[in-house]
Amino acid sequence: MLVAPSILTANFTKLNEEIEKIQSADYVHLDVMDGHFVPNISFGPHITRSINHVSTIPLDIHLMVTDPLYWIDQFALDKTEYITVHIEANDTEEALKKIKEKGIKTGISIKPNTKVYDIVPFLNDIDLVLVMTVEPGFGGQSFMEDMMEKVKELVELRKQKKLHFIIEVDGGISDQTIDICKDSGVDMVVAGSYVFNHKSPKEAIESLK
Ligand code: DX5
Ligand code: ZN
Repeated sequence: MLVAPSILTANFTKLNEEIEKIQSADYVHLDVMDGHFVPNISFGPHITRSINHVSTIPLDIHLMVTDPLYWIDQFALDKTEYITVHIEANDTEEALKKIKEKGIKTGISIKPNTKVYDIVPFLNDIDLVLVMTVEPGFGGQSFMEDMMEKVKELVELRKQKKLHFIIEVDGGISDQTIDICKDSGVDMVVAGSYVFNHKSPKEAIESLK
């Protein structure tokens, strides 16, 4: 299981230390929020550049923004490996095309109320599908187990169509919910509060792997 800790719940008064604590993970997951697509504002290009500078592991950037097309250039950094946009936001096709042109892997995300059906046209050419297991906007929410149906549907579609995307889930992931994710076919998990509220983030990451 790939693990991408979300720094949304990290202690921003000592961000450098917090980033160092999660370097045994596979990616740093960056939850970028614009206060419009979701009712919260997290951080932007400036903080992302600082994280890009200090992290030794690649960035998995999750744009929870209404106009991702506008922002892609500013998040296309040397350690950016994935940029994920929401199907519910604007200009999905153009945004994914621009991410790809930058040589960065493309991700598409669906909120809890969005059906897998809505992203089927994108699956042939996508590198990652992010199934939200909470309503986007805040860390520390409860895991929505019914979202595992979408994961199973995506596993089936990927097999039928012989596609290559990985399946990531985001929200409410902990040692209590990791097994159902694994059993459903999840490839990568985002975990924020479980990792950063744990006495040892390194142990928390190992427990999810
Ligand atoms: C929601 C955020 C959270 C965060 C993880 O918009 O994307 O899901 O990454 O939060 P936890 O792991 O604390 O539920
Ligand atoms: Zn996220």
